[in-house]
Amino acid sequence: MQLFASSDRSSDPLGSAGPKSSFVYCCIGCASKASTAAQDYCCSHCGNLLEITDPQWNSAHPTALKSLWSERRISNSALDLSGVWRFREILPAPDLAQPVVTLREGNTPIYELPRASRLTGVTRLYAKHQGMNPTGSFKDTGMTVASTFARQAGSRWVACASTGNTSASMAAYAARGGMRGLVLVPDGKISWSKLSQALDYGALTCQLRTDFDGCLRLLQELVREAPVYQLNSINPFRLEGQKTLAFELLEQLDWHPPEHIIVPGGNLGNSSAIGKGLLEMLDMGLISRLPKLSVIQAEGANALVRTVREAEGKRLVPVQAETRATAIRIGNPVSWEKAIRVIQGTSGTCEQVSEVEIAQAKAEIGAEGIGCEPASAVTLAGLKKLLRQGFVKKDETVVLVLTGNLLKDPDFTMEFHRGDLFRGSPQEAASAQLQPLRHPPVVLDATLAAIIQTLERAEKSAPAPSNA
Ligand code: F0G
Repeated sequence: MQLFASSDRSSDPLGSAGPKSSFVYCCIGCASKASTAAQDYCCSHCGNLLEITDPQWNSAHPTALKSLWSERRISNSALDLSGVWRFREILPAPDLAQPVVTLREGNTPIYELPRASRLTGVTRLYAKHQGMNPTGSFKDTGMTVASTFARQAGSRWVACASTGNTSASMAAYAARGGMRGLVLVPDGKISWSKLSQALDYGALTCQLRTDFDGCLRLLQELVREAPVYQLNSINPFRLEGQKTLAFELLEQLDWHPPEHIIVPGGNLGNSSAIGKGLLEMLDMGLISRLPKLSVIQAEGANALVRTVREAEGKRLVPVQAETRATAIRIGNPVSWEKAIRVIQGTSGTCEQVSEVEIAQAKAEIGAEGIGCEPASAVTLAGLKKLLRQGFVKKDETVVLVLTGNLLKDPDFTMEFHRGDLFRGSPQEAASAQLQPLRHPPVVLDATLAAIIQTLERAEKSAPAPSNA
């Protein structure tokens, strides 16, 4: 490799001059602990994934922490304005003498879902909308932490494989942190909207003729060969940032845990991160009982569901992934063991939903005036299934984690409303029931009469539903 001098290669992504903090890397397989990690963030003994632990987290007093975090909400300091770094006591400590790479991520809204409440009978139903982050997805909460550590390690290049959102987020944080971004995405299998973000933020973007799993495999090989800093969710700093969702959510609920939190599952980093956050909160005495964390996948990308059902969670059952929810079109999820652990640790479950169920749930979340991308909609579709199974009860409090913004996948939305999404596919007949949810655009002559006629026709066919 001629691009880089061999002396650029370091076995410690933080570099020997990296910031000193009390955190340690701990292997989820053999439990060995280390203060440094290799570029691929795999355990040097058994090859399994690493996670970050900090023996000092437990020493803080829960009431004092809650008021400290709450006070920071009126502070104008850059760190406090970030909904991630506001919770810095539970994060690995960066060197604060150097700037933190932040776009004021986190601080995302939690919404009531009155229509979906009526539809499902769940009276306390909320959406925590991570699509309201700066680049439109939950990835930003992890990226601020991992890119800060990448920068402090002196990294020139940061890199990721992605189904779109990670690359959009990484490209933005690389640009903010003065680093170069290398993006590996599956050719033709990510939305233009996400791809265009990576281009605009200036990343070197490679569309590889493979799927996401192929991109990630190559990235793991690349980081062993070249001094590029790995920013996929294998990188445990990403998960540390993403776990703050759990803290922020509980703060928004006045520290009253909901009975259920439901998240989409792809590579399974996010569910692992949220679960880690919940378990730490219980350990620290911030909450007195755990919400059940449940993970929902698309039927065509259901490796976790099959792993649980066919192998009792003991070995991964990979699949050839296929779904229109391209963000979670992943067949070989790297964080499957971490996800199994948190599902079991919180007494949650996992479930799968069909393409038609995803499209329906997405339209229903859109009709709330909120919207989300297809991968996020699996949560509402999954909730309906979990209610039918009796796993969720109507009088329980449920939070759906919406992971990506509606604007992330306009093609899906347009095809749905125009009635083209399932045309010619095996789901065409089953999708006929979605007709009432479609709102296709109407092309008219530019006359007042034409508009009034259309308005009257619309009023007759579907009187406006009330949200009150
Ligand atoms: N929802 C959205 C919108 C996503 O972009 C992803 C993953 C997930 C859910 C699943 O999260 O992988 O942590 O289980 N997107 C990744 C990417 C893989 O490259 O953007 P996960």
